[in-house]
Amino acid sequence: MIQVVNLQKTYPGTRGVLARGEVRALRGVTLDIRRGAALALIGESGCGKTTLGRIVTGLEAYTGGEVLIDGANIAGMTARDRRAQFRKVQLIPQDPYAALNPTRTIAAALFDPLRLLARRGGKDGAWIERRAVELLRLVGLDASETLYKYPHQLSGGQRQRVVIARALTVEPEALVADEAVSMIDVSLRLGVLNLLSQLRRDLHISVIFITHDVAAARYVAQDGQTAVIYRGEIVEMGPTDDLIQRPVHPYTQSLLSAVPVLHGLEQAGPDRFIPRPTEQGESNDSSSCLFADRCPFADDRCKAAHPDPEPWAGAPDDRLVACFKPKERKVVAVPLSGRASNQ
Ligand SMILES: Nc1ncnc2c1ncn2[C@@H]1O[C@H](COP(=O)(O)OP(=O)(O)OP(=O)(O)O)[C@@H](O)[C@H]1O
Ligand SMILES: [Mg+2]
Repeated sequence: MIQVVNLQKTYPGTRGVLARGEVRALRGVTLDIRRGAALALIGESGCGKTTLGRIVTGLEAYTGGEVLIDGANIAGMTARDRRAQFRKVQLIPQDPYAALNPTRTIAAALFDPLRLLARRGGKDGAWIERRAVELLRLVGLDASETLYKYPHQLSGGQRQRVVIARALTVEPEALVADEAVSMIDVSLRLGVLNLLSQLRRDLHISVIFITHDVAAARYVAQDGQTAVIYRGEIVEMGPTDDLIQRPVHPYTQSLLSAVPVLHGLEQAGPDRFIPRPTEQGESNDSSSCLFADRCPFADDRCKAAHPDPEPWAGAPDDRLVACFKPKERKVVAVPLSGRASNQ
């Protein structure tokens, strides 16, 4: 359904007191997600997850590589065709409150996109109202209780359901949920995660689930794939359960270990992962492994050549690992029942 091939995104640098060099947010990402499938994207802050989500929903331009939706390459399309293709992929943002206009009722939020569709399809006002009620029911809300309310009169979970209902107005084939439950009260998260799974099942919608939370990734993409991103590259990808239980790339292992990599706050030690250097200090050199300066297993080869994702022979299923020293290592894993599934 969505394919990205060698996708690259470079943000230009800025000048002035806070001058910053250009940022390579994505450095050649290749992914393929089928209709109805789930893909979780995990990785630390700033690794490029949102950038990828915004590119595949058409909200951000890319600077290299290819994006195909339903097999059609976006490049070379007229603006109108491109819009039509990207309409099939809808973004569910992190903050449902910011996504809804506080001065307009839920009805108004849903009627606007429906009105456009009605005009195109020659439908009347009654259809718009019926469809809004139907969509609210689909996301688990009772229209009589929500339709004429304002966003502040709903709970965080209800608001995120409204945002999902609005995304569904255009009958998308895929949803990109970017940290879509992180701002919702913990007690309501599981309901929204379940809703995403239900929409996959019932409407055959693909879900790209972007998160820091491994437990949530596992919950949503249990029967799908998980890709681990580090500094704009996929360093490991495979079937979710297998990847979480048997991570092979040292970065995935650090991400899943009980010792979180806290952006330079963790203690470095012989058996610990080395903190992430500041951005200025980072090697931007793609002729080495980007994780080499933090990896306890790095040797000269890791500093002299760049590993590309390759099938790893140790896994029965398709696992891709970008590492010269792939190895299953014992990790003190985070509890797999995690926050999300405890609710
Ligand atoms: N509009 C922009 N202009 C310049 N740089 C940007 C822009 N958007 C993102 N970046 C940079 O691109 C990199 C990737 O950002 P992105 O938002 O995709 O990360 P992320 O993985 O979503 O992080 P988080 O988990 O914190 O949401 C970061 O270094 C970020 O500072
Ligand atoms: Mg983000």
